[in-house]
Amino acid sequence: MFKVEEDIYYAGVNDHSIDLFEGMYKVPDGVSYNSYVIKDEKIAVLDTVDAAFGDEWLKNVREILGDRQPDYLVIHHMEPDHSSNILNFLKIYPNVQVVGNSKTFVMIKEYFGFDVKNTCLVGEGSIIKLGRHSLRFIMAPLVHWPEVMVSYEELSGAVFSADAFGRFGALDVDMPWDDEARRYYIGIVGKYGPQVQQLLKKLGQLNVKKICPLHGPVLEEDLAHYISLYDTWSAYRPEKEAVLVAYASIYGHTKAVAEMLADILVKAGKQVIVRDLARSDRAQCVAEAFMCSKLVLASVTYNAEIFPCMREFIDCLTERNFRARTVGLIENGTWAPISAKLMRERLSGCKDLNILSQTVKIRAAFGEENAAELEALANELLK
Ligand code: FEO
Repeated sequence: MFKVEEDIYYAGVNDHSIDLFEGMYKVPDGVSYNSYVIKDEKIAVLDTVDAAFGDEWLKNVREILGDRQPDYLVIHHMEPDHSSNILNFLKIYPNVQVVGNSKTFVMIKEYFGFDVKNTCLVGEGSIIKLGRHSLRFIMAPLVHWPEVMVSYEELSGAVFSADAFGRFGALDVDMPWDDEARRYYIGIVGKYGPQVQQLLKKLGQLNVKKICPLHGPVLEEDLAHYISLYDTWSAYRPEKEAVLVAYASIYGHTKAVAEMLADILVKAGKQVIVRDLARSDRAQCVAEAFMCSKLVLASVTYNAEIFPCMREFIDCLTERNFRARTVGLIENGTWAPISAKLMRERLSGCKDLNILSQTVKIRAAFGEENAAELEALANELLK
């Protein structure tokens, strides 16, 4: 619990107990579930926390409230990591008005099986006055769920941004923002770039001085940096002129070729990241593929298919609308190499991909006949 701003308090919690967030994202540094309280003539509690942390959160809220009663519980987002304690809160504070939009209340019924009695229905531009402070609501559908909304506190210029601008990592771990925010954004919200662009446009009309997300730290200095990264990510623009070489190898022959290519590129001055897809964090590799301007996929053929970890990696990219990148392909296969053709087909729905015509075709292990192919692929990537 700490003060974010005069009359605005942080009431959230750190979770170091889970290994996977949303059942798939590794969180070695934990994650925070953020909740805020605005204490004015009227009091608004903003969002709840994950089910496992109800007691700790309610204790934080009680400490902030002192002997006062809250007037509003604002639900910016209904995903259970933020909404699971609505009922627990209403049992203690039955007279509170629950603030949500029309989709919020449907989801509350679906998740928890009850109709909220004291509803305060808000839509685009609705304002709730708390005293000196007031909350203006901005709908942000699909950032990351359809009911998501954010709010702008007009006195302080703080935006309560729901999942937007969130980051993996608990608040008691000192860590930089960009990498874990990118992994969070690309993994969780990355599919919804146009909707994030819409939200950024709306925020661009406001004098935003602070961003208070539902995960990760409150952002208050150099907001242009965070907003610019969000603009880049949501517009699907590469963040860096760099090459990610991602490989799936069984006995090391495909790996060796991937590393040979990386060596050539590095010697030519390119920034290169090499990842073994079987052993690297999938979400990090996906985030890096979006970060880099170029991607090389090197896969063995397995059961007349792409090797499973490569197939899953490509699916993670296409599900998130991977686009506007240059892609090079390396295939391997001892008797029936077909992975390059299959990788090309699997990427065929992606917009604005420049899949390089030069494919490196390995039969079992790198041979002399591959040297020219590899050099040609490197030259295309260096253009
Ligand atoms: Fe942190 Fe979409 O929930």
